[in-house]
Amino acid sequence: MSKNHAKISIEGKTIELPVRKGTLGADVVEISSYYKQTGTFTYDPGFTSTASCESRITFIDGDKGVLLYRGYPIDELAEKGDFLETCYLLLYGELPTKTQKEDFDYRVQHHTMVHEQFSRFFHGFRRDAHPMAIMLAALGAMSAFYHDSIDITDPHQRMVASIRLIAKVPTLAAMAYKYSVGQPFVYPLNSLNYAENFLRMCFAVPCEEYKVNPVLAKAMDTIFTLHADHEQNASTSTVRLAGSSGANPFACIAAGVACLWGPAHGGANEACLKMLEEIGSVERIPEFIARAKDKDDPFRLMGFGHRVYKNYDPRARIMQQTCHAVLKELGIKDDPLLDIAMELERIALHDEYFIEKKLYPNVDFYSGITLKALGFPSSMFTVLFALARSVGWIAQWKEMVEDPAQKIGRPRQLYTGATERHYVPVKNRK
Ligand code: SDX
Repeated sequence: MSKNHAKISIEGKTIELPVRKGTLGADVVEISSYYKQTGTFTYDPGFTSTASCESRITFIDGDKGVLLYRGYPIDELAEKGDFLETCYLLLYGELPTKTQKEDFDYRVQHHTMVHEQFSRFFHGFRRDAHPMAIMLAALGAMSAFYHDSIDITDPHQRMVASIRLIAKVPTLAAMAYKYSVGQPFVYPLNSLNYAENFLRMCFAVPCEEYKVNPVLAKAMDTIFTLHADHEQNASTSTVRLAGSSGANPFACIAAGVACLWGPAHGGANEACLKMLEEIGSVERIPEFIARAKDKDDPFRLMGFGHRVYKNYDPRARIMQQTCHAVLKELGIKDDPLLDIAMELERIALHDEYFIEKKLYPNVDFYSGITLKALGFPSSMFTVLFALARSVGWIAQWKEMVEDPAQKIGRPRQLYTGATERHYVPVKNRK
């Protein structure tokens, strides 16, 4: 590969393809003309070596365990800022000035209510419906309520839709939780900050004053910041692909929710807690480590491994600190699940198999224990991930819609099915 070109020889023909450099990370070989020049496709199921787009939002260095939102390290944003500031940064590209932050916070806080008809929407579900199923439906349903912010060609409507999503997803998530526990919905309270307001909508009851716990609210805010965006992960790629057809932003975000639900992706926090509960004691850890290594056993250690991080997920470190802060604040001295998690992490980080495959704890490893301590049932864990990731999805969607080079996504395939054959009437089939 020369400085700016890659040469590829195929069936005696050599072609040159441009190489593009980013500001950070790997260069890319631009292959959009490859099929036209060679009559062959490239093949990369799971996109392990394929960049699907150009983006300026988030960067991950998987080898160094670095995560940057618009260039700012995740630990600095999580410790020194708040989630709404991160939302502004992801959407606008810069940290807000004092006035910009006050204005943005005001705009979000004054969009937190949903149309009153939404409360009837929930009553169509069984009480034991999985909250992710409800969120999937509710986010898609937003396009039925907000017709004045679905014209994707209008920059103003794109920003209104973004603010509405950031503001209303917590309200819908809290309603999904309240509905599942048979308690009345709690309206947003604009005098509270984003995380305080969400916790109150989830845990306040009409019969007593809700007391904000600033330590728990800060932990919730940190968890939202950690989950806000993450390059072109499966659910973000789903949102981009849905958006490339011109679908409205709420429908695209609903597609992202559907993809995030999978246990290999955002469902891993719920799956990880279930795994820790199944392990049940420190003594049983070796049995599960052996299963994770067994090629014939589909079992995997939930909360371990990552497509990009081949080092410690920087979010997992902050998640672990947050977990300890929450347990301390709640006076939970010895959480058996935390003991199992810490021992599992210690063993795995010294085990040849995990070292050789570069399997480290990811963001989902400690989040389940923390969210359980905050009072959420495991069925709500991925809903909280979706709540936080909504800003990353909408920021990436906006970037794609505003990219003059974007076109409808339409991958090709390697076809290995039947060659052409002709219909045989059923009476002649053997
Ligand atoms: C998220 O993409 C993102 O950025 C996602 C995310 C985000 O913020 O959007 O970071 C959020 O999804 C975090 C990941 C949560 N998922 C889990 O914790 C589920 C458990 N993890 C695995 O399913 C797996 O590690 C993945 C899905 C996360 C990554 O899968 P890859 O990159 O396709 O890795 P792989 O399946 O090719 O595994 C490489 C090897 C394999 O062995 P070999 O076939 O090479 O012999 O490592 C093994 C795997 O068997 N392996 C594991 C393992 N993860 C991978 N073995 C045991 N336990 C595991 N957890």
